Amino acid sequence: MSTSELSPEQLVQKQSLPGAHLSTEACLAQAKQLQGKVVVVTGAGGGFGRNYSVLAASHGAKVIASDINLAAVQATVDEIVQAGGQAIATRCDTADWDSQVAMFRLAINTYSVVDVVVANAGVTEIPGWFDEKLGENEEPVKPPMATVDINLLGASYTARLAFYHLKKNPSTGLKSIVLLGSMSSFFGIPMAPMYSMSKHAMIGLFRSLYHSATPAGININIVCPWFCATGILSAPTRIAVAGLPLATVDNVVQGIFKGSSDPSFTGNILGIDAAGVLCIPYDAFIVGEGGYYRAFLNRAAYTISTVRTIKDVIAAFGDARKPSPTKMAVKTVGLGALALSAYSAAVGATDVGISGLVGRGAAAATLLVI
Ligand SMILES: NC(=O)c1ccc[n+]([C@@H]2O[C@H](COP(=O)([O-])OP(=O)(O)OC[C@H]3O[C@@H](n4cnc5c(N)ncnc54)[C@H](O)[C@@H]3O)[C@@H](O)[C@H]2O)c1
Repeated sequence: MSTSELSPEQLVQKQSLPGAHLSTEACLAQAKQLQGKVVVVTGAGGGFGRNYSVLAASHGAKVIASDINLAAVQATVDEIVQAGGQAIATRCDTADWDSQVAMFRLAINTYSVVDVVVANAGVTEIPGWFDEKLGENEEPVKPPMATVDINLLGASYTARLAFYHLKKNPSTGLKSIVLLGSMSSFFGIPMAPMYSMSKHAMIGLFRSLYHSATPAGININIVCPWFCATGILSAPTRIAVAGLPLATVDNVVQGIFKGSSDPSFTGNILGIDAAGVLCIPYDAFIVGEGGYYRAFLNRAAYTISTVRTIKDVIAAFGDARKPSPTKMAVKTVGLGALALSAYSAAVGATDVGISGLVGRGAAAATLLVI
């Protein structure tokens, strides 16, 4: 039986690797630990950060909710306060060290301590790395690095300040850091080198900090979602993944919640896809046929092999708010098809179905002639 004939659940059973799927109940089991805790969340104006903040506050956490978009994070805080919870909104650009220092200072000045930090803020690949245009001296132009500035440097600033403030916290109870990786912490998304690089690096950050966190009484975990329909998905990405089973926001938030609230839970990677929350212990990070790198590739191959219809792709255009003249639309489909075909080939997912192959081939051919 080929990988693509297995359901995600069967894939998990077939892996016979250490680790386990966590139920919603298991993820929320230690919710009472967040009662009265001071929780700092970056990127809390939308997506996972917003939903996690609301959930944590509903269990009694005092949330410092920050985002580069103040209006968006104020809306998160308004929702929390209207529901009877405690939260403060603040603007913070995580790519800016001083901005993050000020965010943590606000937490200390308001609540005296920090107990939990979720380094969530992130952006998609900022286009431009592949630009062929030349600069003044007929040499390539320096590529935009904002993806790395936010997803990697910004998250490492958050982790550094989290360490400083958590170590100063005299409590012997729950102290935790949750980092946001991605399934692209394990493979390279075609056409997204800076995103893939920064999310791979988050695994390295997590694996290194774990050794320092443990003796300091700090838990550290990393949540690695597959594609999920939040504001981060660009129009071309939505089209490229149209019809594929996606991770749910609820599952991702449950993973963040587990990593942040369970005092005995540290050093884990939480891989989240359409099959739910997969907990991978630190020691299980094995490269090779019997390891998790292979397991993630198999899962991604299974997901990509899902047979999709043209209706899925057309529906995805409904979400694309930018003006989309025909040429841009066709180009987008072509690029998405090429990227997914390249990725499928890379992971050995040859069984994509006749309609999938014909569709991708036609789209790729169209791209070449426009
Ligand atoms: N949605 C997915 O498919 C997916 C998959 C894997 C990993 N992730 C990761 O999850 C995290 C959250 O993403 P999301 O899906 O909720 O996206 P989102 O776009 O819905 O939310 C991200 C939030 O971060 C904020 N932000 C962006 N740049 C910022 C900056 N410089 N400083 C502070 N805030 C900033 C945005 O304003 C936004 O509110 C990111 O790290 C992302 O890389 C997302």
